[in-house]
Amino acid sequence: MQPIFDQVTDDLGILYGGDYNPEQWDPAVWREDARLMREAGVNLVTVGVFSWARYEPEPGVRDFAWMDEVLDLLHAHGIAVDLATPTASPPPWLGVDHPDTLPVDRDGVRLVPGSRNQFSPSSRVYRAAALAITRDLAARYATHPAVRMWHVGNEYGQVDHGEEAAREFRRWLRERYGTVDGLNAAWGTTFWSQRYRSFDDVLPPRRTPYLVNPTQSLDFRRFTSDELLACYREQRDAIRAAGVTVPVTTNFMGFFALADYWAWAGEVDVVADDQYPDLADPRSPADSALVQDLMRGLGDGAPWMLMEQAAGATSWREHNLPRTPERLRLDSLQAVARGADGVCFFQWRASTVGAERFHSAMLPHAGVDTRVHRGVQRLGADLARLRPVAGTRVPARTALLFDWESWWAAEEPGRVTERLRTLDQVRAFYRPLWDRGVAVDVVRPGASLDAYDLVVVPQTYVLDDAAEAALRKAAARGAGVVVGPMTGVADGNAHVVPGRFPARVADLAGASGEEWVALPDAGVAVAAEPGPWAELPGGGRATVHGELLRADDATVLATFAEGYLAGLPAVTRRDPEGPGGSVWYVGTVLDEPLLGAVLADALARCAIEPAVPGAVAAGGVEAVVRGDAVFLLNRSDTARTVAVPGRWTDLLTGRDVADAVTLPAHDAAVLTPAKSS
Ligand code: GAL
Repeated sequence: MQPIFDQVTDDLGILYGGDYNPEQWDPAVWREDARLMREAGVNLVTVGVFSWARYEPEPGVRDFAWMDEVLDLLHAHGIAVDLATPTASPPPWLGVDHPDTLPVDRDGVRLVPGSRNQFSPSSRVYRAAALAITRDLAARYATHPAVRMWHVGNEYGQVDHGEEAAREFRRWLRERYGTVDGLNAAWGTTFWSQRYRSFDDVLPPRRTPYLVNPTQSLDFRRFTSDELLACYREQRDAIRAAGVTVPVTTNFMGFFALADYWAWAGEVDVVADDQYPDLADPRSPADSALVQDLMRGLGDGAPWMLMEQAAGATSWREHNLPRTPERLRLDSLQAVARGADGVCFFQWRASTVGAERFHSAMLPHAGVDTRVHRGVQRLGADLARLRPVAGTRVPARTALLFDWESWWAAEEPGRVTERLRTLDQVRAFYRPLWDRGVAVDVVRPGASLDAYDLVVVPQTYVLDDAAEAALRKAAARGAGVVVGPMTGVADGNAHVVPGRFPARVADLAGASGEEWVALPDAGVAVAAEPGPWAELPGGGRATVHGELLRADDATVLATFAEGYLAGLPAVTRRDPEGPGGSVWYVGTVLDEPLLGAVLADALARCAIEPAVPGAVAAGGVEAVVRGDAVFLLNRSDTARTVAVPGRWTDLLTGRDVADAVTLPAHDAAVLTPAKSS
């Protein structure tokens, strides 16, 4: 998927811009916008995301003349366009004339027009109408010189539980299982007398008297992701059929629950993502880093695009803290450091109308003489200087496994504790790595782990054959493996694998368990055993979830000190005799310092260093190496001096750096090796 997107950044450098919604403004404003975009360093805008009602005011009517003018104007100002298909928000008439295009929720309530996203991905009428407008748009603009990318729909995430969805779900199940007996076996319908006599009797999960069959629910999630992907694909194919040769993509939403982006990633020409960190959360920089490492992983290391972010505050949280220009700059540079070749926003000009009238924009209501806009101009200038970074890769020796299907299966209700959440675990295992400045790739279970010296498995509830084989191969080769709680519990049908857990890899862990245990609200004390750690931590606490474990062939690193599991292992490490890497098993939810100590032990034994050791020593400085560039982001409130042995040039300022650089609070440097004169 790499080269086609590279052609765009080869021409334009790092992409910089945002959603632009000209239908909200008069043509005189368009001209002002084009000029101001240039002045802010904008080189790409996404247009037409919500233009369907403007293009097609009545069924079958077309009005593209205004878009001709917009595209010509932008092109004349040297601004490239990412042209959207407008299919995320059908005009009201579609739902009024064809109520079956409207999605039905779990409770049987049909959603109505008046917002956006009101379509059923399974609706034949919606699909035909979306395809028709896409075909006409593509035919008209396939070769327009302004259009350098296509953007299908927006943030695919609709779900329908109605009759259209039921029909397509049954078709999907027939394809998956062939016979109703196959479905009955997979869904375990012997339980609660759920046996189906025919596919025709099957429904999407709707409001039921009590808990829904977990495999029915899992399959409906798989189906929903596939159905959304089918919507994307048919529009993409229509764009291609019109002769478009530039990249086609859509915007992802990080760890979004309704679409399995591992399945989607191969269908886009560049992975693109929308990121709105919670500014009230002090750990949001680490969480954003994780999402960015996921985006890079989805594209197998290729550059990706930050498709949307907010220039200031969002407006969809209950209480929306402002984003300072310094924070915006650090977060944007963070994305580039972690592989983004585009930094874009929702949106260029702040709307005065509609549901998002208080959402920040690159150009606020108050105009150019504003703090937000000055920050936007500065960022545009910074990104222009980072052109040499475009196309380069981020090296990492640590892999972190994450999988949507496993996440879905793990979180079906009716379990030991609903407080154990996959994403919490993924974030918890990632944060100590981020704190220690270690580069991490997010990898799909089952993918090759050959490039890694440490593999972290925070919670992979479903471990299939391929995932097991890859882990075994990595461990046999000498890589360290850290396994978190509730891993390897179930098979692909979400059936619990009987026997001692972690099923399939208990021998690798050298530890095995017999009971999952909810811990009391206050948690329990955990004692670190003296001796075996790289750095001996003090004791700590475990909360939420524990496991009744036995160390079969492993050293106990930490023990539950009280309660139901008192005296039993909480953390183990197997150090195989002879070749093979160590395997840690963490059978509980540890507090941050103790989990950090486990990961520090793993990093030390695998000889994995921070990307920039001087940044960790300085404290508060996020450091990432991309290609031959070293990104240093001072996220602390005071100046920090970072040791960087060698001679460098800071791409942001052009100044020379030798052996150390001092970064003012909330400032950044992007160092590249100095050219020897
Ligand atoms: C995104 C969406 C944009 C805008 C933005 C506001 O989810 O794609 O259209 O709504 O959020 O933060």
